Amino acid sequence: MAEVAVHSERRGEGIVISDDWPGYSLDLFSYPAHYSGDLDCVIIPHGVIMDRTERLARNIMDELGDHDIVVLCVLKGGYQFCADLVDRIKALSRNSNRTIPMRVHFIRLKSYLNDQSTEDLHILGAEDLSFLAGKAIVGTGKTMKTLLKHVEAFGPKMIKVAGLLVKRVPHSSACVPDYVGFEIPNRFVVGYALDYNEYFRDLNHICVISESGKLKYKI
Ligand code: HPA
Ligand code: MG
Repeated sequence: MAEVAVHSERRGEGIVISDDWPGYSLDLFSYPAHYSGDLDCVIIPHGVIMDRTERLARNIMDELGDHDIVVLCVLKGGYQFCADLVDRIKALSRNSNRTIPMRVHFIRLKSYLNDQSTEDLHILGAEDLSFLAGKAIVGTGKTMKTLLKHVEAFGPKMIKVAGLLVKRVPHSSACVPDYVGFEIPNRFVVGYALDYNEYFRDLNHICVISESGKLKYKI
């Protein structure tokens, strides 16, 4: 029997990780020895990220499969998610009768120093997004609000945002992505390309940074 219930999950919510979830002990997984002492716990193991990403790829295919897709990857934190998501979409497209033309572009956003969001958001590489006109976009990454305004000005046919993580931040006015991997507590997380002052991108799992880790890499 064909699989059903493709969009049974609540829109824009994803897998909810509650505030009282203590995470997994680091001793249960392997991670680079140079980060020992710098992390509190594993909040999302790499394998779970990959499984969730595969499902997001299927949801995207089901919804956008008849369009050309222009993927706009938001660097740097979104690079791993984007690469894995595109990879899963390619695999699904290979295994179905639909081939989906996909182009991938990169832009860079920078807004964080240490673990604080700064006022000024820099968009690099987005000067001319006129190639977006009439295409379906799946943007990946964070800090989407400013970017969305910028992208909408180019008049794409459809814009969809995929975000691996959505944080439960108090008083947030942020727009919720159309495809969400996980909803997480308001803690600073690193790994899977998410950084703290450029460190921890080489960690596969998504982890909570420790206070001593913050001090060690503070600038
Ligand atoms: N980790 C890394 N980068 C971020 C985070 C985070 O928790 N929140 C916003 N940018
Ligand atoms: Mg960063």
